[in-house]
Amino acid sequence: MAKENVISSIDVGSSKISTIVSFLVDGKINVTGTSGPSLSKGVGKGAIINIDEVVRSIEKSVSRADRMSTHAIRTAFVSINGSHVESINSHAVVAITNESGEITRQDVERVLESAKATNLPSSREIIHVLPRDFKVDDQDGVKDPVGMSGNRLEVQTTIVHVSSMVAKNLKKCVTQLGIGIEELVYTGIASAESVLTDSEKELGVLLLDIGAQTTSVVVFVEGGPVFCTTIPIGGKHITNDIAISLRANMDIAEKIKIKISNERDSKPTSYENAKFNEVINPIEFGLEGEAISKRFLYSVIDQRLDEIFNLVLVELKKTSLINHIPAGVVITGGSAKTAGIEKICKSVLKLPVKIGYPRGLEGLIDEVSDPEFASSVGMIIYGSKKLKHRSVLPGNKSSDNVFRTVKKLFKDFLPH
Ligand SMILES: Nc1ncnc2c1ncn2[C@@H]1O[C@H](COP(=O)(O)OP(=O)(O)O)[C@@H](O)[C@H]1O
Ligand SMILES: [Mg+2]
Repeated sequence: MAKENVISSIDVGSSKISTIVSFLVDGKINVTGTSGPSLSKGVGKGAIINIDEVVRSIEKSVSRADRMSTHAIRTAFVSINGSHVESINSHAVVAITNESGEITRQDVERVLESAKATNLPSSREIIHVLPRDFKVDDQDGVKDPVGMSGNRLEVQTTIVHVSSMVAKNLKKCVTQLGIGIEELVYTGIASAESVLTDSEKELGVLLLDIGAQTTSVVVFVEGGPVFCTTIPIGGKHITNDIAISLRANMDIAEKIKIKISNERDSKPTSYENAKFNEVINPIEFGLEGEAISKRFLYSVIDQRLDEIFNLVLVELKKTSLINHIPAGVVITGGSAKTAGIEKICKSVLKLPVKIGYPRGLEGLIDEVSDPEFASSVGMIIYGSKKLKHRSVLPGNKSSDNVFRTVKKLFKDFLPH
């Protein structure tokens, strides 16, 4: 019988929470439940600012996906984001003491564990130890050392660390619902799993996940992530600029932004398209006053995008990685759909640019094939890689006591 393993992800964004339930069978990941976008309350710039609101938001999202799925959510990979996310490089060496001299998975785990020994203060929690390059004796450039013979195993890693306080609060929100946490996954690392190809990562590529209040930045060189950071600006700032320019509220400004983004071709060649000279009738959005020029709106959007990409450039310059990413930039996240984004990104970073759509799952994927689900989908792929090495994983609903606990908790949170 085929081995069946449930993998779930909960993406806690600043504007929305999305949950995916899937199961891994014969190497394929089948989606069996999705929540779609569900409003995220209590999250500001990636961090939790109101626990009760976050718990309720997560509960709504999880129960939607859970209702659709034939597989229960017992545990989940959960996203973490915000300007508290940082990365450092770390290096470690271990001796291979097995009689056969053959490197085992345990040796790899041991060397990665040693790489964690850094001088980080207790206010920081390590969430990822990402191997970039292994060296077996004098042989460097090894991607997977398991099965190789040698006396000494060395690794270069990128360590992603976060505020312990933010991590603790996030875990609290999820575990209060009776859901175990598999791992916290940095949004940028998650999205990279679903939108980047192996050849882009090998060549050198910059991944940007632009959400509502955050821009997650990850640089890959020679196949591995070498740098991660989050800039606390995103699509909500563009909406805010439109709201201020038109003296409109945020809801109206958001509708206007989406409307003109959906009709303006983001390809650089058609930037000067016919839409440029059109106007929007303010009455259509319940506003008063004169017709609103689309050229004006595009310029408001462009200015903020220009700022975002210049902030990314500042980060890249700090690391001198700009010359190591010939595959260019892949933009994902909900704000990847913003009008003119490719053109502005290209003009600031002077690199090829494309929009990243999440791939790699099968089953009920229609709802999650949009850039705004890059991190939710990516966590499932990340999870499938992690769980491949485990023999028994969360089972199905009928035999699941934890599931009943979860259901009971959901009931407690639902309006009476
Ligand atoms: N069609 C669109 N055009 C422009 N912006 C969009 C569009 N759809 C969503 N967005 C923007 O994407 C952002 C949400 O992206 P998302 O990745 O879901 O955010 P988060 O993960 O931070 O909650 C919002 O600021 C929203 O305005
Ligand atoms: Mg997002």
